[in-house]
Amino acid sequence: MRCVVANWKMNMLWQEAASFCEAFMGGYTPAEGVQTAIAPPFPWLARTSQEVRSKGVRVFAQNAHFEEKGAYTGEVSMAMLRDAGCTGVILGHSERRTLFGETDEALTRKLAAARSHGLLPLLCVGETLHERDTEQTFAVLKRQLGILAEAGAGPLWIAYEPVWAIGTGRRADANQIREAHQFIREELRVLMGEAGEMTPILYGGSVTPETFDEILAIPEVAGGLVGGASLDPGKFLSLVQTAQG
Ligand code: PGA
Repeated sequence: MRCVVANWKMNMLWQEAASFCEAFMGGYTPAEGVQTAIAPPFPWLARTSQEVRSKGVRVFAQNAHFEEKGAYTGEVSMAMLRDAGCTGVILGHSERRTLFGETDEALTRKLAAARSHGLLPLLCVGETLHERDTEQTFAVLKRQLGILAEAGAGPLWIAYEPVWAIGTGRRADANQIREAHQFIREELRVLMGEAGEMTPILYGGSVTPETFDEILAIPEVAGGLVGGASLDPGKFLSLVQTAQG
């Protein structure tokens, strides 16, 4: 199975999101074996879901809280995401880890909460440039994936996103991607047994329509988590069509 996910981050007013949906859905044809998802900002989850669900395009949130409900001003629960039409949630994106203090401990609880509400967790892992330069890449990936030991087997997608390749135009090279994906696959086997064999591992970080073919050809790469290029409906459509072959 292949997966292509648009991460809009904190971009798009509703008028822009609506135009995106119209343009993208006008050209989109679903294909067997390829899942497409869009992760808009919170206020547009429900409306985006209404625009895209007829053709099976999924809507993911970019974050959520692990508690069920209560006095958590500014937070959004997994149940609310379900209510808004989401079927998945991005967890542990590097921007949340570095800018908003997301911890592995919180992610462990978020992962369990997502699954208990029938949301597919898309867990992001990846090293910073400093960590790569000091040869800590695999140790960092191992630590970040470590939260799966407690989570046990269940639905899961992983995205390998080297932090230095996000939004920089500087994509990891084929060797770096292959090594990291193979390492992640091994870890998933250890942590999740047979389920770890089936978990799709996406690559993210400066993916463009020009480079996606080459990225998809790398062993263990099941798709892409795309930021910048996913804001343009034509580019996102072309990425999806590349994954569909
Ligand atoms: P980018 O972002 O495609 O703009 O590098 C990827 C991501 O942060 O998920």
